[in-house]
Amino acid sequence: MMLSVERVSAGYGRSSVLRDVSIDVPEGSIATLLGPNGAGKTTLLRVIAGSVKPRSGRVLFEDEEITGTAPEKSVRLGIAHVPEGRGVFPGMTVRENLMMGLFAKREGRRAMGEAMASVADLFPVLVDRPNQLAGTLSGGEQQMLAIARGLLTKPRLLMIDELSLGLAPIVVQRLLAALKEIQASGVTILLVEQFARLVLGMADVAFVLEHGSLAFAGTSQQLIDNPSVLHGAYLAGRKALQEVTTP
Ligand SMILES: Nc1ncnc2c1ncn2[C@@H]1O[C@H](COP(=O)(O)OP(=O)(O)OP(=O)(O)O)[C@@H](O)[C@H]1O
Ligand SMILES: [Mg+2]
Repeated sequence: MMLSVERVSAGYGRSSVLRDVSIDVPEGSIATLLGPNGAGKTTLLRVIAGSVKPRSGRVLFEDEEITGTAPEKSVRLGIAHVPEGRGVFPGMTVRENLMMGLFAKREGRRAMGEAMASVADLFPVLVDRPNQLAGTLSGGEQQMLAIARGLLTKPRLLMIDELSLGLAPIVVQRLLAALKEIQASGVTILLVEQFARLVLGMADVAFVLEHGSLAFAGTSQQLIDNPSVLHGAYLAGRKALQEVTTP
């Protein structure tokens, strides 16, 4: 397994958010973590990235235990985390934002040329506008920038929180196509999403969190074939089942 979360419980202060959550993400897969608002999806990514320490349970990355490893170190181990809200620095240029990825991996400016070349294939728009302030990019371009910055840390596992948030469907489709290419280059991907419809078609495995507990783990197809889980755990009150079954 690229990543195993074993019986993790975690929370903030006195509140408990995750209860006994276990997931396995196979190497080379695209995995998606679904669930309603407040289910604990972001918290689980934070536990994996090391910014939230679990109260119990373990996290294994490439079969090594990394539970509680600090975020700077987990980046160097090969885990890139594109956080909710993307985390780009709006007052910095595209180039400067990308440089943060290199610094996170402790690579200097000299690696920049090569890095820009690697970004150019996936997201040419970023390379065309290195001096544009990130805050003036469109939402989709900011998401590209956040992903590119993560890729510059040369991850083995790329985690993206809410890929589609606030983006038009056509933009999301382009991002998903880029993720397919990233997967093909050997990177395992863990994608948090609100909209199952967008990702189930391309994900290999899926997990559903509900109130901090795992409500489903299996292949994407098994989840598509399991409308009661989709409906009850995830889509109640949301745009919905028909979007999953009739894209
Ligand atoms: N830094 C924090 N301090 C205290 N409570 C928090 C913090 N971050 C999240 N929470 C709480 O933890 C619970 C789970 O939040 P989390 O962000 O993990 O859910 P989520 O599934 O990512 O939700 P969303 O779909 O809205 O992003 C929520 O009740 C939230 O209010
Ligand atoms: Mg979240």
